[in-house]
Amino acid sequence: MDEKYLEKSDETEKKNRHVLPGEHVYEDVLFFGYTPADILDAVKEFKVRDDDVIIATYPKAGTTWLQEIAWLIMHDGDFDGAYRKPVYFRSPFLEFKDEVLNEVGLDLANPMPSPRVIKSHLPVKLMPKQIHEKDCKILVLFRNPKDLCVSYYHFYRSSSSFGKFTGTWEDFFEMFMEGHVDHGSWFDYTKSWWDMRNRENVKIVFYEDMKEDLHTEVANICEFLGKNLSEDLLKRIAEHCQFENMKRNPMTNHLDVYSINAKVSPLLRKGTVGDWKFHFTVSQNERFDKFYNDILGPLNIPFKYNLTAMT
Ligand code: PPS
Repeated sequence: MDEKYLEKSDETEKKNRHVLPGEHVYEDVLFFGYTPADILDAVKEFKVRDDDVIIATYPKAGTTWLQEIAWLIMHDGDFDGAYRKPVYFRSPFLEFKDEVLNEVGLDLANPMPSPRVIKSHLPVKLMPKQIHEKDCKILVLFRNPKDLCVSYYHFYRSSSSFGKFTGTWEDFFEMFMEGHVDHGSWFDYTKSWWDMRNRENVKIVFYEDMKEDLHTEVANICEFLGKNLSEDLLKRIAEHCQFENMKRNPMTNHLDVYSINAKVSPLLRKGTVGDWKFHFTVSQNERFDKFYNDILGPLNIPFKYNLTAMT
């Protein structure tokens, strides 16, 4: 191979290789130190209950949004309870261990009374073995990968969990394409969960559908979870979970989380569909589409990249 090419690609590689605190690779998936190997081992043996609800998402798909919705549905619209504790303590993040925040997912989940609403960003192969045996319900939330990538970039800028990320959008785009980000490749993740879509206890929900008609999606999720809530309650849950309301709510906005510098970018940043158009260059967009089509195109996953018809 041309030496110049090698030099250049080495350089590009080095530039893109942001090192995460405690970075390690577990079964081909990259993780930061807040998801150490011993926790990943223990997650596999985690005792799942038949009445668990699992929120399976890649980072930045809208996890927090679905956690709040599912928690309220499973607790019959207990808004008082929802205002008493941050969502990340009501709905444990299974593979996460942050001793400063005293947020250790397994320690929170194990003694928690049913019904539990458990968050995980793990691909299927790293999930608790018992998800394949128990009747737990699994809500998989997909978001179009371009908006997701932009959201992840801003989270890398604002969260100290990822170390001091000083890269540019261009750097992050390359990292995302390579799967060199915490929780690994979005492409692998998405394929693993799409393959589960026909199981009776799995429902795939799309972020963009929630944006388009939250009330209908809340009602569909409620039905899937086997709960029978009144129309009025469903409406109130949808209202409570509108972006502006969750952004204002200290129990969902994460402004208290020490590792997130909201001045750089809050967790509830924009909450829109189509922000990718303000970040992706034409050439990045073409590369992304080609890469996506080569890898996931044949799966025909109905991602929406805009909500209004584009001309
Ligand atoms: S995390 O940390 O990975 O669990 O983050 P996650 O919650 O998955 O994703 C954060 C993005 O979800 C958006 N969000 C919402 N959008 C619309 N409505 C509501 N209620 C809502 N709640 C969270 C949040 O704004 C992040 O997306 P961006 O595009 O960065 O704004």
